[in-house]
Amino acid sequence: MQNSSVPSPRVVFVTGGAQGLGLGISRHLLDHGWKVAMFDIDAEAGQEALSALDEAKRDRTLFFHGDVSKEADIKLAIQQCFDRFGRIDGLINNAAIADPHAPNIEDLEWDQWQRVINVNLGGVFLATKHATQHLRQTKGAIVNIASTRAFQSEANSEAYAASKGGIVALTHALAVSLAHDIRVNAIAPGWIEVSDWQKSADHTTPDHSDIDKSQHPVGGVGTPKDIAQAVSFLLDADKSGFMTGETMRIDGGMTYKMIYAD
Ligand SMILES: NC(=O)c1ccc[n+]([C@@H]2O[C@H](COP(=O)([O-])OP(=O)(O)OC[C@H]3O[C@@H](n4cnc5c(N)ncnc54)[C@H](O)[C@@H]3O)[C@@H](O)[C@H]2O)c1
Repeated sequence: MQNSSVPSPRVVFVTGGAQGLGLGISRHLLDHGWKVAMFDIDAEAGQEALSALDEAKRDRTLFFHGDVSKEADIKLAIQQCFDRFGRIDGLINNAAIADPHAPNIEDLEWDQWQRVINVNLGGVFLATKHATQHLRQTKGAIVNIASTRAFQSEANSEAYAASKGGIVALTHALAVSLAHDIRVNAIAPGWIEVSDWQKSADHTTPDHSDIDKSQHPVGGVGTPKDIAQAVSFLLDADKSGFMTGETMRIDGGMTYKMIYAD
């Protein structure tokens, strides 16, 4: 299974592509010649992301406004991406309610639980379901964005942790179901600084304390580029063609650190 003979530019669909990590991934892939369809629930962020591009890149970019947990929205956007670009080679399932913190389990409402699971995990299912017919044609690849919170937790983050653990399992299940046609891998990021990748109304300048940095074995928190480079690698069958079903941790070594109480 190779897609290395595919003529450039290839087409990638990025959910949650208008801000944060998704925008970092979209811009990195644009820099490397891809056509990019960004899908996001935040229309203002999408318009800003488009206007920040130079004309040549804007010609290779689409923005779709929608909710990844609404089947009609994601189905229509994927179809329109295919109609416009004529192919889809990559799907990046990145959209999420990215704040893991929630009320404690006694106070967490069923609606809050369901919303996080529906967006963070259900959205991966829906986008994959509707992109698969196009990805089969190109022998494409899917990259799901999980989290190190799939493997370890702070208190009061049940819905988020469960959604990300679900992505890890969904990734290997899909890798087997879509075998010979589509490779499916995941990335589990640790702390990635995205405050300076938000739309202008929410944009802030990162400010990390010494302890924020030094607690990471690599000496600092991550950037969207750290994840985007791994996404590029996982999309490229020449480089990662023997990988499917895998979840790559990219966390500056944090989950390998043993912590004892003082
Ligand atoms: N930043 C980190 O430290 C970190 C760590 C681990 C995992 N992640 C994961 O990376 C991904 C991106 O997170 P981020 O930190 O960039 O967050 P972010 O909030 O900056 O970006 C998330 C994007 O998804 C969009 N979105 C939210 N709900 C949506 C929906 N229902 N439909 C469509 N779009 C929707 C938002 O509008 C936003 O543009 C998420 O899956 C998150 O769980 C982030």
